[in-house]
Amino acid sequence: MTLPMTVPAPGLPARVRIHEVGPRDGLQNEKALVPAAIKAEFIHRLAEAGLTTIEATSFVHPKWVPQLADAEELMRLIDDVDARLPVLVPNERGLDRALALGAREIAVFASATESFAKANLNRTVDGALEMFEPVVAKAKDADVAVRGYLSMCFGDPWEGPVPISQTVSVSRRLLDMGCDEISLGDTIGVATPGHVRELLATLNEAGIADDRLAVHFHDTYGQALANTLTALQHGVTTVDASAGGLGGCPYAKSATGNLATEDLVWMLDGLGIETGVDIGRLTATSVWMARHLGRPSPSRTVRALSQKET
Ligand code: HMG
Ligand code: MG
Repeated sequence: MTLPMTVPAPGLPARVRIHEVGPRDGLQNEKALVPAAIKAEFIHRLAEAGLTTIEATSFVHPKWVPQLADAEELMRLIDDVDARLPVLVPNERGLDRALALGAREIAVFASATESFAKANLNRTVDGALEMFEPVVAKAKDADVAVRGYLSMCFGDPWEGPVPISQTVSVSRRLLDMGCDEISLGDTIGVATPGHVRELLATLNEAGIADDRLAVHFHDTYGQALANTLTALQHGVTTVDASAGGLGGCPYAKSATGNLATEDLVWMLDGLGIETGVDIGRLTATSVWMARHLGRPSPSRTVRALSQKET
């Protein structure tokens, strides 16, 4: 298989933790319902490819995200997977469902903008944070790790550009509430590298260190990899990505797939940055999933490597 030549560059971390979101962010946006058994096989294969954090599903209202209505069934099918398996939880009802299935990591998901808080959670920004407070407290009591997603950090389809101060303020509130980590979501993929650097620098100035931050780029405008490299140069070492570039958000129509995990691993392998991921096994998994979904993967790396194989 073709692999990039390894040529390290200065000012980059030795190791990056990939937070794989394909089974959740990817499959939540599929038109067709994917059977739980296929999702379970997907997650097993991702773990076998070396991914150590795989966001499995969401315990949200099944009417809001019917694609993930099988969360309970799926969790039972993946209880042997040797990886961290975080799940999304919006409220106490969701947390109780997740804890009953043995979840050890959850994520709440806030918005930097009022429009998306309303569209995604039927709440104001403040109302959503109030909803999360008891969730985070109860999770911490149960020794469950909590990630705080923050959507629309760079731009919003209804409101346009989002002031950096707004993103910093909600990030602070999520951390003060007890979240262990904040994932900065570019939900509609409009960020560019200067904006990423500016946001990270402002978060640092507000006392939020890079080791509490992850980046979550959607690739709508082809900027996800450039933005990721910028974040790595800044000092962030946790990167969200989706196998095969699956993804989007059902409540933000302008969101397309996430940064493809294969595109990310190709770059990191070339830079000599350790991820533990076997790009060949991962690509084979995305080719298998693309066949199941009936359309080719949007990942350039998946396409290039799978064409070379044949
Ligand atoms: P609501 O309609 O305001 O709900 O929705 P409610 O609190 O008024 O409750 C209404 C009914 O729903 C009640 O039932 C509840 O029990 C039930 P009833 O008494 O009428 O029979 N209910 C639930 N049932 C099962 N599980 C639950 C649950 N909660 C309430 N957890 C709600 C509020 C938060 C529930 C809804 O808005 C929701 O589920 N939203 C989820 C939307 C979502 O999952 N979006 C995608 C994930 S976010 C994303 O993709 C962005 C990200 O990738 C980062 C980025 O890219 O930016 C993370
Ligand atoms: Mg997302």
